Parts: sequence; structure tokens; C-alpha cells
Amino acid sequence: MNMPRSFIAAVLLIAAGGLPLPAATVTVDVARPGAPINPAMWGIFFEDINFGADGGLYAELIKNRGFEFPEPLMGWATLSPSKAKGKISVRDDAPFNANNPHYARLQSEGTAPFGLSNEGFRGIGVRQGESYVFSARVRSVAGTPKLTVRLYGGDGTVLDTVELKDFTNSWERYTATFQPKDTDPKCWIAVLLEGKGAVDLDFVSLFPGKTWKNRAGGLRSDMVQALADLHPGFLRFPGGCIVEGSVLARRYQWKNTLGAVEDRKLLINRWNYEFLHRPAPDYFQSFGLGFFEYFQLCEDIGAQPLPILNCGMACQFNSGELCPLDQLEPYIQDALDLIEFANGPATSTWGAKRAAMGHPEPFNMKLLGVGNEQWGQEYIDRYTRFAQVIKDKHPEIALVSAAGPDSGDARFKFAWEKLRGLHADIIDEHSYALPDWFLDNAHRYDGYDRNGPKVFMGEYAAQSVAVLSTKNRNNLSCALAEAAFLTGLERNSDVVRMASYAPLFAHVDAWQWTPNLLWTDNLRTLRTPNYHVQALFAQNRGDRILPVVLSQLSAAEEKRVYASSVFDATTGEVILKLVNATPQSAATTVDLAGVQHLSRGTMTVLQADNLDAVNTFDAPDRVAPRETAFSPAAPKFDLTLPANSFTVLRMGISK
Ligand code: AHR
Repeated sequence: MNMPRSFIAAVLLIAAGGLPLPAATVTVDVARPGAPINPAMWGIFFEDINFGADGGLYAELIKNRGFEFPEPLMGWATLSPSKAKGKISVRDDAPFNANNPHYARLQSEGTAPFGLSNEGFRGIGVRQGESYVFSARVRSVAGTPKLTVRLYGGDGTVLDTVELKDFTNSWERYTATFQPKDTDPKCWIAVLLEGKGAVDLDFVSLFPGKTWKNRAGGLRSDMVQALADLHPGFLRFPGGCIVEGSVLARRYQWKNTLGAVEDRKLLINRWNYEFLHRPAPDYFQSFGLGFFEYFQLCEDIGAQPLPILNCGMACQFNSGELCPLDQLEPYIQDALDLIEFANGPATSTWGAKRAAMGHPEPFNMKLLGVGNEQWGQEYIDRYTRFAQVIKDKHPEIALVSAAGPDSGDARFKFAWEKLRGLHADIIDEHSYALPDWFLDNAHRYDGYDRNGPKVFMGEYAAQSVAVLSTKNRNNLSCALAEAAFLTGLERNSDVVRMASYAPLFAHVDAWQWTPNLLWTDNLRTLRTPNYHVQALFAQNRGDRILPVVLSQLSAAEEKRVYASSVFDATTGEVILKLVNATPQSAATTVDLAGVQHLSRGTMTVLQADNLDAVNTFDAPDRVAPRETAFSPAAPKFDLTLPANSFTVLRMGISK
């Protein structure tokens, strides 16, 4: 076929970003504000995947601190310099704590220092100028040897040394503080017995002095800060499939995560063995980050707690083991007890446990998830039992129910039909799909039933290659597709009440799943373009939806401009979000209908030259929001959206 030259030239110009397409008009009906926006609309999905808790948010730096891994010396190695003679054994007689009974016995003939090293979670990260609290439970067995503990840098340089001595023949806790002389993300420690004799050693721990809110045994502050900066409306925890377990015996049981950390029984992490292509044999749950700490974190960062409980079903991608319906009572009781733990008076059984952990006031929980990503009649049967009891005793709690792993398949449709019939409160939808799915689904909720259950878009993430591909990247293309999709959630926030990206964290040297909202190494947290998108929505939430009409778009152009708008009554500003997910700029005319005058304003743009752009630890702000002043002369103005961009305008108005 012969094509006219002018046509070919135009196509080439467009491909090169050279030929401007006709302007799209974005009309915001400021005079007719719509439904209120849920203050908890934009939130966080947390799961202990990718070393998210142990080796991540939970700031403990020693791996296998209690020698409880099935291979009890995993993470540890015997340190036996040439002249040293000694023996390491792992025992469980007369333990320090019966819930975590194993400990190490170090015996030395005193010829030279002899002992153990610990590699941390893919190394131990320390900063010069900060202090690190070392502690261990020690019991003397023979002689009066002392323990020398050394912090080594990755290159073998000694960064600091401390000593523990004067042990007795009963278990006691000894502490010392390291002041590293250098910053190093890949340190390790040596625990060396000096002198002839033997000691028992357990619960070997190293914590940064600077944790979030400087709590002893607390959370990594850089990681929590990234969460706080999201302005999250809610925090869903502890997952994810981890709630379900591959078999019921390995499900997440919140009651086992309370009290002193030494009492919390170690459990294998399902992500240890879930993906054979990304095995993590050293991945376990210490529960140092347990339910009390999750609630406390919610309070710290102003997020509503949304715990998800096992509903008597193990992961349906694994065993799919079911608790028989006539044996479900303990699972439902766990839910009732959790409500009492979170909200009951300090005099109640479970409220007293909360108070004993230092929080007499209730945590004010309003949301509770029944099951994670379950599907089928088996789920409906179990959800129904939970809902009957909880709604009867606690009508104040809104229940989140599951609709399977895919927000469009037969399992999903079945769940919606059944849950609609049961008048479910909120249905949790999950979408892991290619960027095009997110662009195509920006109008997904326009036609949803306004009188049915509400929606929680509880797990979404655009996949640059394919679901479960290890090549998936957190690139700008995915972030912009998500931004386009989120405009649809925002425009429909009378139906879509909450949304969160998933998963949240991944350690660069220990991940199982990609993409993720935030990447970490042993010292730093990297904010992805996807993070910035969710943060911009949360930081510019507003209180009322404003109707938006997009016009003058041809079918081909429809994918070029996505928009949503809200009104912020506190600041008196119209907030307009505009996405151009293509490599060409897009001319628009914005019309704020019903507005007489505009005052001060800002324009924040997230953009890069290339849709493949990603942030890295070397270039962490390659794709980051840039804010400038913005003052159009009149309520109707022209605006060119840069190629590959997400723009947020805030404009003070008077009507
Ligand atoms: O976010 C990772 C996993 O994806 C979650 O554990 C699960 O709910 C979903 O399948």
C-alpha cells in the first residue's frame, strides 16, 4: 500500500514528539462537589515478604539471635583462629526461655580467643557517630572467661570492641554499646570467649540506638519515615499470604506475637520456600514486630489499623487446607479477642494484655479483615460464620472480605455476587497486571453499584514484564499507569473507600517478589516512582470529589489524558490531578467551572524523559516530584502536560 508522504511525515513527527495533538479540555465542576472522600482512602499494605520485617522494619541486626532456626547455627560460623581450641554445641537443656529453648554453649581451652561470628541479614549496617546496643543472655558453665565482642567492617577492619564479663551460673542479660568508627552496610560481629572455661549464650542482639521514636528494640527509622511521609490513612497488616500460611499450622497467629520478645516463638516465613527460583532458607519470623507493635506503628503514623486474620483457610496456592466449619470457633474467638485487645478497657482480659505492654488506652480499631486472598464457596461459608458473630457483637467494626487474587476472573465474580447478597461491608480487590490493564481500567469503577459493598483496592501494582517475573521493574511507565488508574479510584471514592500498593518493602539482596513500593539496603530506603504516585494522591487527598469531564479527545487520544479533582475545604483549594502516560506532550485547556478568581497555587510534576526510568540508590531522585509556583491568570487556562508525566495542581479559589 502506498501511503501519502505527508501522512508518513506526520506519523514520524508524532513518534518523535514533534507534532502537537489537539488540546483536550478538562472541565472541573467546582460548583457541584460530590461525595466526601474517606480520610483513610490512601494507605499501606504491609507484609513480611522480601525481608520486610525481620531483616527490615524490625531493626534487630542479628539473624537467628536465639539459635532457633531448624539449622540452629544458620547465620553463625565458628571462629577458631589457628591456636584456638574449643567447641561449640547447641543445647536445649535448662533453657533461658522454654518457648525458644535452644542456646549455644561455647567452650574454650584458653589457648586463644574462640567463639562465633554472626553475618546479620545480608550484613549488618552501621553508621559512624551512632551507637548500637549489644545484648546477650549469658550463663557461666566453667571457669571465669570473659566475652569479647567485635564489630568488623566488611573489609575486616575492627570498627569497635566491647567486653562482657562476671557471669553467674544463672541466665542474665548483659549489655554493651558499640560506637563504630566508620559507616559500613556490610559489617559482621564476632563473639569470642577469652580464657579457659565455658559459657551458655542465647538471645544475642544488636539494635541501633536510633530507632523510630528511639524505642529500645524498635523499628528502623528511615523505613518508618518513608511510611509516615505517605500520609497513610490505614495500615493493613500482617499481609498478604503470610496470614494464611501454606498449611494451617503455619498460619499467622496474632496471640503468639505479644509479650516479651523472648516469649514469641519463632515461625518459618512462607516466603522462605514459596518461590524455588528465589529461595530464602534463612527467612523466619521472630515476631519482634508483632501485633502490639503494628498497632503502635499505626498510631505513630496516623493510620487506621486494618488487621487481617486467618479465616480457617491455608493459602489456596499451597495446600488450601480448610478448618472444618464445625471447628471454626477458635478462629472466630481470635477475632473477638483481637477486638478486645485493640479496643477493650484495660480491665478486660485482652485489654489488660495491651495495657501490660504499655498502652492502657484503646487503639480504636474500626476495620478488620476476614481472610486474605481467599476464594470459592469455602471462603463464603467461613466468612459468613465470622460475619454473623462479629456483626452481632461488634456492629461498629467494618469487615473487609476477600475476592480472590484477580479482580476480574470467575472466582472474583462469584465472590462479588455472594458477598453482595450477604451485604458485605468492604470487598478487597487485588490487581497485579501489565500497565495497559491499569490504563484500560481507569474507568472500572464508574459503573459500580453505588448501593452495594464498598471496594478496597487492597493490592495493586503494575508489572512491567509479567506477574511474578523477576525482571519486573519499578519504572515510570508502571507508575504512570497506576496514577491513571488512581484517578479512577479518586473519581469514584464514594465506592472505592481505600487503596494500597503491594508489596511494600524489599531488601535489594534478599527479595522474593518484584516490583515493590520501597527498596531497602542495610542503611537506606529508596522511594520508587510508584511510591511518589501513591504519596501524591495521599498528600493531596482533599475532602470532596469534584466532577471532571474530559472532552475533545479522539478515540486514539483517550489514553493520553487522565484526570480527577477534589476540593480541600481546609485550604480552600481545588486539587487537579492529570496524567499523561505517553511519550508526547499533551496540550490541555483546564476550565474550573464556577470559579471567579484564582489565588496562589502550586504545580507538582513527576516526570522523566524515559518511561523506563527507575530510581536507584545511586540516583534516588531520578523520578521524583518537583514543585513550582503556579498562578494562571484566569480559571480557564491552557496547560501543556509534559510527556510521561503526572501533574498535581493546587489552586486557591473564590467562587
Ligand atoms: O503482595 C504479595 C502477595 O500477593 C500477597 O501476599 C498476596 O495477598 C498476593 O497474592
